[in-house]
Amino acid sequence: MKAMKIAKDVYWIGANVHTEDLFEGIWPLPHGVALNSYLVKGEKTAVVELVREWGGASHILIENLRSLEISPSDIDYVVLNHLEPDHTGLAYLSDSIAPNAKFYTTEKGARLLNGFYGIDKNIVEVKTGDELDLGKGKKLVFTEIPNVHWPETMATYETDSKVLFTGDAFGAFGVHQGSIFDDEMPGTYEDYWEEETLRYYANIIAMFSSSVLKAIKDLEGFKTEVIAPSHGLVWRGNPREIINKYIRYSNYNKDFAEPEICVVWGSMYGNTEVMLNSILKGIASEGVSVHIHRVPNEDPSFILSDAFKSAGLVIGCPTYEYGMFPPMKYAMDLMKKKSVRFKKALYFGSYGWSGGALKDFEKISENMNWDLFEPLVFQGHPSQEQCERGENLGKELAIEVKKIPPKIK
Ligand SMILES: Cc1cc2nc3c(=O)[nH]c(=O)nc-3n(C[C@H](O)[C@H](O)[C@H](O)COP(=O)(O)O)c2cc1C
Ligand SMILES: [Fe+2]
Ligand SMILES: [Fe+2]
Repeated sequence: MKAMKIAKDVYWIGANVHTEDLFEGIWPLPHGVALNSYLVKGEKTAVVELVREWGGASHILIENLRSLEISPSDIDYVVLNHLEPDHTGLAYLSDSIAPNAKFYTTEKGARLLNGFYGIDKNIVEVKTGDELDLGKGKKLVFTEIPNVHWPETMATYETDSKVLFTGDAFGAFGVHQGSIFDDEMPGTYEDYWEEETLRYYANIIAMFSSSVLKAIKDLEGFKTEVIAPSHGLVWRGNPREIINKYIRYSNYNKDFAEPEICVVWGSMYGNTEVMLNSILKGIASEGVSVHIHRVPNEDPSFILSDAFKSAGLVIGCPTYEYGMFPPMKYAMDLMKKKSVRFKKALYFGSYGWSGGALKDFEKISENMNWDLFEPLVFQGHPSQEQCERGENLGKELAIEVKKIPPKIK
């Protein structure tokens, strides 16, 4: 993707990265990720967000600048909405390639600029309401939106073109598919973006849902025509759509979510799997949508998306060395960390000697506002009677989940 005009004298100059690396060292990127960077050209030249050296991203950013007949040494200002290295890595080269650039970031951002890259000069610390006049009618206004998702986060509004650069807020995983814009997205990619946006939210932003809602309120005052996040699509056709998506996501862990069930299971020798099938039969009898994930075969990144959005949650795994099957423990620890709260939840699993997985389940699910069904634990292979109980529990859970009205779209 080449440099792309977003509005008069405002360009996307980012990079689409395909990589085997995990995002933040944890999250798989089967469809890559876009590192969005932007250029605003007045009399002075500002770049909003950098990239990190990743899959050729730095090279691409510089090429994109050159295609607009700008060399890095022409950059007057670099605005860093937050300091996470995916958007700042290139800063370490600023001395040599962009010696004239002044960094604009929050006070906390300035400390991180020093901490990560040893940069302690040519920094302007900004607060909510501060402005940077670029000349020729172009002006940037800054608003602190802390904890979306790093503490030093801010958003930057360009008053002339009414573009709001929101950093990671309103971001998504996934590279662009032919266009950076929501209004040029092929219809067949709607599901792709929904999945990659929700997974990004569930993996990266979920813990900070209340800060997201506050940021949306704090940014309401701007007459925004384009939302330009640091990952994912640039929302030019219908910016309200991404705001609504984020509002919907941020409510998934405050209240009950979609009337669907996420089933996460693991089994060493198949006994737990026998019960899984009975529970699934019970759920199917009520026609409720179900998302089935096996651990450790499936990465928790994808499990988190479905667990986060589903009102019902089923956890099935055996006891392993006096506790929960370890890959399930990891998946559940992540659910806790990422605030997968307010679920109707059912635990089941096989044990051999004296059990122990249930104890772990109860401990991890504490303080998660889970409405727990009676757990179903059994020694070895489940009996016919136990399987019938499982089928009934699956059905009961599905009936409860069906009562939940769908969320705002
Ligand atoms: C490595 C290993 C550790 C186990 N640790 C325990 C344990 O601490 N307590 C227990 O009750 N059973 C333990 N078991 C027995 C399993 O929980 C039991 O075989 C169960 O039926 C396995 O369920 P699955 O067929 O769904 O894998 C262990 C089994 C294995 C292979
Ligand atoms: Fe970030
Ligand atoms: Fe990011």
